[in-house]
Amino acid sequence: MRLGIMCSGNGTNFENIVTNPVCNTNEVVLMIHNTKQCGAVARAAKFGIPHIRVPHKDEDKMIELFKAWRVDLIVLAGYMRVLKNPDAFPAPMINIHPSLLPKYKGLNTHKRVIKNKETYTGATVHIVSEKLDSGKIILQKKTKVSKYDNEKTLEKKVLKIEHTLYPQAIKKLLI
Ligand code: GAR
Repeated sequence: MRLGIMCSGNGTNFENIVTNPVCNTNEVVLMIHNTKQCGAVARAAKFGIPHIRVPHKDEDKMIELFKAWRVDLIVLAGYMRVLKNPDAFPAPMINIHPSLLPKYKGLNTHKRVIKNKETYTGATVHIVSEKLDSGKIILQKKTKVSKYDNEKTLEKKVLKIEHTLYPQAIKKLLI
């Protein structure tokens, strides 16, 4: 299967999808990003994966590129913009979010989890819809929040969960 990935940030999920044995039988054919300082670019270059910067408003360009690369699944891996017209994209589209959706949509998830003294947090993979961090949930995994956790430790904990959860969700969708 041919995967297209979209990123804005560091790209650890991107690299994990490329290398994780649960789903690396699929080929990541294209990475689209929308930021100048996108860490995923160096990771894509390391693996020889084509990467193209497209402004977040230019969804027609993204659609054209994903069509040209004949992708079977589009994976948002830390893509920090809401897409206006996900139904127009040429393949199913999924996203990962660092919370137990429908709780804590949007930014500053870990900060809000700590502030509200939650006992559990986690990560969710869901189908992308035109609403922020919404759409049908595919997989979710939780972890305990300890009284010693802060924003940074929680971010690290949840990212670790994401790195097992996302490959599992991709495998589930592509079988
Ligand atoms: C991840 O924690 C991901 O869940 C989050 O951005 C981070 C990207 O990390 N995505 C969202 O918050 C989307 N709403 P990465 O660039 O290292 O993969």
